[in-house]
Amino acid sequence: MSDARLQVPRGTRDFYPEDLRRREWLFGHFRAAARRFGFEEVDAPVLEHEELFTRKAGEEILEQLYHFELHGRRLALRPEMTPSIARMVMARSGSLRFPLRWFTVTQNWRYERMTRGRKREHYQWNMDIWGETSVTAEAELIAAVFDLLDALGLAHRDVKIRISSRALLEETLRNTILADRPEAFPGLCVAIDKHEKIGEDAVRDLLTDSDGPVGLGEDDARFVISWLGLRKVEDAARHVPPDSRAFADLQRLFNLLDTYGLADRVVFDASIVRGLAYYTGIVFEAFDADRKLRALCGGGRYDRLIESLGGSAIPAVGFGFGDVVIGELLSDKKLLPEPPRQLDAVVFPFGDDERAAAIRVANALRRERQWSIELVLGTPRLRRVLADAHRAGARFLYVLGPDELSRGEMLIRDLDSGEQTTEPIPN
Ligand code: HAM
Repeated sequence: MSDARLQVPRGTRDFYPEDLRRREWLFGHFRAAARRFGFEEVDAPVLEHEELFTRKAGEEILEQLYHFELHGRRLALRPEMTPSIARMVMARSGSLRFPLRWFTVTQNWRYERMTRGRKREHYQWNMDIWGETSVTAEAELIAAVFDLLDALGLAHRDVKIRISSRALLEETLRNTILADRPEAFPGLCVAIDKHEKIGEDAVRDLLTDSDGPVGLGEDDARFVISWLGLRKVEDAARHVPPDSRAFADLQRLFNLLDTYGLADRVVFDASIVRGLAYYTGIVFEAFDADRKLRALCGGGRYDRLIESLGGSAIPAVGFGFGDVVIGELLSDKKLLPEPPRQLDAVVFPFGDDERAAAIRVANALRRERQWSIELVLGTPRLRRVLADAHRAGARFLYVLGPDELSRGEMLIRDLDSGEQTTEPIPN
């Protein structure tokens, strides 16, 4: 098939019934985990004004924006949910009761270079807490990620969450390297987040580019890159004062996670920075233990996003958990189910003379039992109907033939046991 009209755009997916059943199974788990943590679901349009997303820190996500102009307005398909949620919070900030716990399950669009686990549309489960400054919020969110992973059937050792703190790095640099231009910090984070993708040398070039957003000297760039190699909180906190808030927050977070029983499932990892400019504090990402896949989820604290949109500051922390990478992991672990079609019964009238009675039977089962009923259309043969009913996973076949009808009865065949009974046709 070379006709482009007949193919989905590269990186996008059709969902056939069996795909959609599996997707709904996953989304059901997202929603159930969110509910267990007391979150409420919200939604927003997939289309936003382009300006909602534009920032000037060199983020990849903005180069990947699907955008267009229509009737003089510049619009974009959302690449992520966070700015839309911020817009919604901002619009009602006077009347909302904080802390807010909101979640979404939505499709996002990014024109990505495609690799395993990366598509041009993906769904994300977002969980965000607004209006809470303490790391009790981070702890609750990280616990929610593990709650989901457990519910999906993954073992404790299968996934680790790697945690770091942009605030700790910012404090480290505030009095030295970035003393005279603190505003360069978000751009610095966006640059160093690329280290795994483009390598240390290329990151050093980005940091030292005198026309770039950061413009560091060679030694300073080397220091920043070496910081990413740290794997102990105490080492990463060596350049901050003992009363550092960022250090205290990290320690408290690890203590809280210990209380949740998650100590062996989380690690400190200074190389986690996140590629979005708006993060301001704790940041985290979840990875499969073998590090074969990209991040399953990523998030962190972003206390200044609403301010950057012109509102008054509201602290916030959250994460986005994609549907693609978890699908790969569950498939690798043979944990991806094939949920059956949920069909309760097939109702089969032999011919047109039996159709009125069959419609009455279908109506009664749909209304009174809330059953899922497939009423056979047309006049196929019994053998074909039986085979289709088995294939669809129906539990019962209701047969209305001329003999049954003359007795005012219908024949009910249990498709598991093959047992047959008769019942009167409802009026
Ligand atoms: P993100 O790290 O860009 O964060 O995306 C979160 C997750 O979405 C990733 O870990 C990955 O599982 C999935 N994902 C992202 N891009 C793709 C893609 N092209 N194909 C497949 N999966 C993808 C955010 O979007 C933040 N807004 C998360 C957040 C919420 N931070 C605070 N609240």
